[in-house]
Amino acid sequence: EKGGYPYFMLKEINEQPTALADTLRGRLSADGAIVLDEERLSAQDFRDVDKVFIVACGTAYHAGLIAKYAVEHWTRLPCEVEMASEFRYRDPVLDRSTLVIAISQSGETLDTLMAVKHAREQKARVLAICNTNGSTIPRESDAVLYTRCGPEVGVASTKTFLGQVAACLLVGLYLAQVRGVLYGDEVAAYVERLQRMPDLVGRTLHRLEPIRELARGLADAKAVLFLGRHVGYPVALEGALKLKELAYMHAEGFPAGELKHGPIALIEPGLPVIVVVPSPRGRAHLHGKVVSNIQEVRARGARTIVIAEDGDVAVEPYADHLIRVPATSSLFAPLVTTLPLQVFACELALARGLDVDQPRNLAKSVTVE
Ligand code: F6R
Repeated sequence: EKGGYPYFMLKEINEQPTALADTLRGRLSADGAIVLDEERLSAQDFRDVDKVFIVACGTAYHAGLIAKYAVEHWTRLPCEVEMASEFRYRDPVLDRSTLVIAISQSGETLDTLMAVKHAREQKARVLAICNTNGSTIPRESDAVLYTRCGPEVGVASTKTFLGQVAACLLVGLYLAQVRGVLYGDEVAAYVERLQRMPDLVGRTLHRLEPIRELARGLADAKAVLFLGRHVGYPVALEGALKLKELAYMHAEGFPAGELKHGPIALIEPGLPVIVVVPSPRGRAHLHGKVVSNIQEVRARGARTIVIAEDGDVAVEPYADHLIRVPATSSLFAPLVTTLPLQVFACELALARGLDVDQPRNLAKSVTVE
């Protein structure tokens, strides 16, 4: 059942183009509206929303962090993202015009479920983004959008992360549309671009041999830092989480702009630093700043591993290792920039002789607090 792969995780990484296409399939109706599953909320309910909260744990939380950039940009609604385990213990301000989006692959994560229950007690509307049909979180929510990525067996989430990001983008577009912030044809144009992403994901996966080789050579590293900005920041967090989970290696993700406020003190000769570089076209103002950050860490001896889009020549002088990804629009970039980081963690763990499907101390579904 591993489809010829030695580990489910390798199979699931390679299934991402199909998984993403399945999340997106049939989501645009003939009249241009976005189709959600089991919708027990009316378009009016979505129109009445004045604030969005996203609650989730682990990798799903990182998908939520990415969603915040899209939701605020497209809908002009304030959007907060919070780890489900903290949310209900701090008396968040919720009412019937709050939309809470709960993201969970398993649909059984207790912290996320309790956050959903808390939100509904406070009369908030809850939309679940979930991969498991008939699981508890969708049942306890007002509406659900299934990611339809198929079963994920590897304990570390890979394909379902892409599904969660895509589902969040769809919800952002739906909200923007029902609220009249984006016109139907603008939404359709975004959805059409989104529909092209599975192909781009496939093409990216085919060119990741260099990061595999690099990962094998870093099996003895003591720590790895990950830097990113804008949506590249949650991608950095996800890269660090994957490395902790799979390779049991100390890994931290930081927003690159925060470097000089502390983390730069960690830089020592030879420390691998992976930098997710924003597009020089879409995010030109941030691109230059991140290039400066690469220079800063390199001047202090870091070994720079730079993830940059095709044609970005500005990074070349400062990259000890340059991993190229195809260019795409900024808000969709995490769907490709995450891939080399998944492969990096997986390959490094394999080089350390570890079982990437069953990392120590972890369970696929965390049904206790
Ligand atoms: C990371 C991972 C975990 C889960 C988290 C939430 O690879 O698998 O961090 O993302 O436990 O699980 P779900 O999405 O099932 O609620």
